[in-house]
Amino acid sequence: MKLIIEILRQKDRTSEPYRQTIAYEALPDDTVATLLNKLNAEPALTDTVGAPVGTIHWQCSCLQKKCGACAMRINGTPRLACDTKLGEFIKGRLCLEPLRKFPTVRDLIVDRSVMMDNLRAIGNWLEQPAVQTEKAAQLCYDASRCLQCGCCLEVCPNFTADGSFYGAAAFVPASKVLSQLKKENRQNLPQNYRKNIYSGCGKSLSCQDICPAGIDVEQKLVNSNAVAVWKRFFKASQ
Ligand code: SF4
Ligand code: SF4
Ligand code: FES
Repeated sequence: MKLIIEILRQKDRTSEPYRQTIAYEALPDDTVATLLNKLNAEPALTDTVGAPVGTIHWQCSCLQKKCGACAMRINGTPRLACDTKLGEFIKGRLCLEPLRKFPTVRDLIVDRSVMMDNLRAIGNWLEQPAVQTEKAAQLCYDASRCLQCGCCLEVCPNFTADGSFYGAAAFVPASKVLSQLKKENRQNLPQNYRKNIYSGCGKSLSCQDICPAGIDVEQKLVNSNAVAVWKRFFKASQ
C-alpha cells in the first residue's frame, strides 16, 4: 500500500521543528515501529521533494507494548508505535509527531524525566513493611502495569511539565504505595497527593480512555482519594 508519511522533525532541543513528507510502499500488517525501522534501514531514502531523509530518531525497547518508550502522536493521538498497525491508514496520511507536553530532544524523542521527578517529589516509595491483602494485590498488579509512557499526560487538560499537577502517571503508581502502607507509616505521601494530584484533577478521565495499557485509572483515583483525602483505610484492602 502506498503511504504518505509526514514526520515532524527537529535536529536538537533548540532548533526549529520542520515537517518532512515521505511516500513509501508499506505493508498493512507492519506497525509504525516496524515502518520506522524500515525507513532507517534505507540510507538513500529521499522525501517527496528529493531531499535526503537520513536517520529518523525515535525511541523503543521492548517492541511488545511493555515499556512505553515508543509513545508518540500518531495522527494527533498519543499512542504506542509498536502497537499501531499501518492497515488503519490505508489510502490516508500517517502523521508522526513527538509528544507535545514534554521537551523535544530530537525528532520523535522527548524528555519525559519530569514523570520520575514527580514521583520522587511526592515521596512515592515504601520505607516500612507493606500491608498486603488479596484485593490490594490485585490493585497493585494493575497499577504496576503502568508503562510511564506519558500518553495520559498528553491528553490531560490540567498537566503541564512545569506545573504542580502530576496527573495519572503519578497517581497510578501512588495508588500502589498508598494501598500498602499502614496508616502510621504513610508519612508525606497523602499530603503531597492532596496537593499535587487531588486538588488539580478534573476527573474527566481522558487519561483512562487513552491509556495503552488499559489500566483502570478511575479505580486507582477513587481508592487513593479514599486513603489520602477521606482518610479511610484502602478500600480494596478492607
Ligand atoms: S481525570 Fe482528567 S484531570 Fe485527572 S488526571 Fe485524568 S485527564 Fe487529567
Ligand atoms: S497510566 Fe497509562 S497512559 Fe499513563 S503513563 Fe501509565 S500506562 Fe501510560
Ligand atoms: S517499544 Fe516498548 S512499548 Fe513500544
